Amino acid sequence: MPSFAQQARATRRRLAADRHRPRVHFLPPQNWMNDPNGLIQFRGEYHMFYQHNPRAAWWGNMTWGHAVSRDLLHWTDLPHALEPDAACDDYGVWSGCAVNDDGRAVLVYTGVHPRYLPGGGPRVQCQCLATTADMVRFTKHPANPVIAGPPPELKTANFRDPYVWRQGRTWHMAVGSSDRDRRGAVLLYTSRDLVGWRYRGPLFQGRGDEAGRIFECPNFFQLGRKWVLIGSPIPLGRAVYFTGTFDGRRFTPEVRGEVDPGGSLYAPQAFLDASGRRVLFGWLWERRSRRAASRAGWAGVMSLPRVLTLRPDGRLDFAPAAEVEQLRRRAARMGPLEIPAGEALLLRGMSGDCMEIAAELAGGRAKRFGLKVRCSRRGTEQTLIVCDRGAGTLAIDTTRSSRSPAVQTGVGAARLRLGRGETLKLRVFLDASVVEVFANGHTCLTGRVYPAGKNSTGAAVFADGGAATAVSLEVWDLKL
Ligand code: FRU
Repeated sequence: MPSFAQQARATRRRLAADRHRPRVHFLPPQNWMNDPNGLIQFRGEYHMFYQHNPRAAWWGNMTWGHAVSRDLLHWTDLPHALEPDAACDDYGVWSGCAVNDDGRAVLVYTGVHPRYLPGGGPRVQCQCLATTADMVRFTKHPANPVIAGPPPELKTANFRDPYVWRQGRTWHMAVGSSDRDRRGAVLLYTSRDLVGWRYRGPLFQGRGDEAGRIFECPNFFQLGRKWVLIGSPIPLGRAVYFTGTFDGRRFTPEVRGEVDPGGSLYAPQAFLDASGRRVLFGWLWERRSRRAASRAGWAGVMSLPRVLTLRPDGRLDFAPAAEVEQLRRRAARMGPLEIPAGEALLLRGMSGDCMEIAAELAGGRAKRFGLKVRCSRRGTEQTLIVCDRGAGTLAIDTTRSSRSPAVQTGVGAARLRLGRGETLKLRVFLDASVVEVFANGHTCLTGRVYPAGKNSTGAAVFADGGAATAVSLEVWDLKL
């Protein structure tokens, strides 16, 4: 019998010919993936668990996939960590986290099971633990579920995605839920031993539609002098963050923002690594039909690792982890280059579908300027990264990214106002169907693109309504 790792390698080789399958971003050997789970650096190694359907390229049979890495880039597949095989989780092993309990790694996850009452009703979501001696095989705790269900007074069935941290000797758990008014909420529990938990009340209740109806996948941690709450509200379909203060029971948000307004990232998880960095991975979902994904045999990919920092104004900065520079291979340089009004200049020798582009652009008199990537020769396929000075935005526009009708396209825009004389500094990561854009060290926008033409690999700079300048352009091929 080939080992799990051998089988995974063979599957990866088989799917490698797929033009839309990312090569430097993490994704499972095959089939469906959604949320990152249990991110932890443990005994020097990074562990990535993820929501996985081992049987098909669509959601179902939720299992924890597992991979390990020394550098956040090269991952080795390990056997599934958790499968839906216990009475309290036989409908699915849903999202959760990992903690280091004095040298012992513990997974905390949501088990989902049918209600035992005749007649059914909503499925029960409960919180469970698993322990391990070797970080390869995991054993479900005999006391599962350690929290059997939501507080009854909330009259909700939504109760999932535990995020656990320790303050002093007390463990704290934030659970994604809804309140009595059907607004997204996060519930707080505390424990001495991870097994016995006490409900402390809502840590956070959203106002208006800022937290949707259900606040999925909460992350809650201290960053500098503030506390940060990240979550993925249904039905917003995007990850949001709040920074503010925490009095030990309740979080008071002061500043609000989006993790990635590109519209393709959901359910991110952030963890503290040994060097003190807060590193975030998010799930980049597919933007094509279920049929197309099923035919491809895979769906879902992780973002690059992003490092979070707090700005003096309380907003969060997102930047690629330094390790990502290790992917750079052959380089090409250009610039400075004048971009006349109303023109797009193709960057010769700078084409590809797995590369990083670092561009510094000065807006000059242009109203809109930026980059075009994944362009076909005639421009029928192209993806725009565009700075609109009037609107004060940076957008990723995939409206013309593919001629295929099975692809969903759109525009995702982030607020970005350049100061007087400030240039736009982009780092754009193209990896098959992923376009991940980092701007000026703080903003991140991700899109998914599936150009139909295999020659849709061109890149250009453009300016509208006035001339702009490409101060410098650098391109690297990327390779693991
Ligand atoms: C977010 C989510 C979580 C849940 C998991 C199930 O994408 O809905 O709330 O635990 O996915 O796969």
